[in-house]
Amino acid sequence: METLGAQARRGIVIFGAHGQLGRVLTRVLAPLGPVQALGRADCDVGDEEVVHATVRRLMPGVIVNASAYTAVDRAESEHAAAYRINAQAPGFLADAAAAADAWLVHYSTDYVFDGGKGAPYEERDPTAPLGVYGDSKRRGEEAVLARPIVAFVLRTAWLYDREGRNFLTTIRRLAAAGPLRIVADQYGTPTSAMVLAEATSAILRHPEAVRAGGLYHAACTGVTSWHGFACAIVEAVGAKVEVAPITTAEYPTAARRPAYSVLDSRLLQERLGIVLPPWSRALADVLRVRP
Ligand SMILES: NC(=O)c1ccc[n+]([C@@H]2O[C@H](COP(=O)([O-])OP(=O)(O)OC[C@H]3O[C@@H](n4cnc5c(N)ncnc54)[C@H](OP(=O)(O)O)[C@@H]3O)[C@@H](O)[C@H]2O)c1
Repeated sequence: METLGAQARRGIVIFGAHGQLGRVLTRVLAPLGPVQALGRADCDVGDEEVVHATVRRLMPGVIVNASAYTAVDRAESEHAAAYRINAQAPGFLADAAAAADAWLVHYSTDYVFDGGKGAPYEERDPTAPLGVYGDSKRRGEEAVLARPIVAFVLRTAWLYDREGRNFLTTIRRLAAAGPLRIVADQYGTPTSAMVLAEATSAILRHPEAVRAGGLYHAACTGVTSWHGFACAIVEAVGAKVEVAPITTAEYPTAARRPAYSVLDSRLLQERLGIVLPPWSRALADVLRVRP
């Protein structure tokens, strides 16, 4: 019988630990058990042999996969790399987890949906990605969920942190340089890496976790557009700059993005009692934290 957090106390290995989520997970999961934070130089998750050898050496109780190919537009021309890291590597990690009797936490994206529903997406809604990134992430979900292991696949959205390269840091930088033009007809929910890392920690500490594995939406609550998110950032940091709304057509990109990809995260609350905050509160929390 699994006692509270016992699986994590055997050790936690975080892959992709130097990305924006991986860095926060490394701090937030540390109280749960010994954490090994592995970057790409320590373990290339696209190399099956290296993944297996790494997991065999460390024999963790929990594997957390924060690695991903996240360049949404570049993925349209770099299919092989995107599928290797987002679709195949999660399968390598899941097989390694099975061999080590470890749990696996894996992350996916709102971009598995086409945005046509017009209401918050639930886990059971059919996926229909518009681009290579979303499709590769969908295949990664399937690879993990097909394995007979305790696995949590957490779909999140519009992830950001106070550092690294993301929407928040980009807007802060650009706001210092002059007026902004930001897409106002794509709707979703910004989710901080801290909120997602804390939800991950809560899952791993939950007494029913061993029976609760599966696919969950894990995004903050509420809805806004990229323009709304940018305005909130500009206001919060006190920048005196105009933020003009533009359409998707006025900002062409290689990959198509869903016009509406709000995730309904109520299943996480119903099954495990984990409630994610409104996106505006999470943003305020991130901006309050000083290094
Ligand atoms: N960012 C978003 O808006 C967003 C939205 C929804 C879902 N998600 C999902 O959330 C998760 C975390 O995303 P994130 O924003 O933290 O991504 P990120 O900042 O791009 O970090 C990904 C990390 O994976 C590493 N990586 C790439 N290829 C690797 C390989 N072959 N072996 C080992 N490590 C490798 C990267 O290393 P390098 O820096 O060396 O490439 C990077 O440190 C991902 O599953 C992503 O799909 C993100």
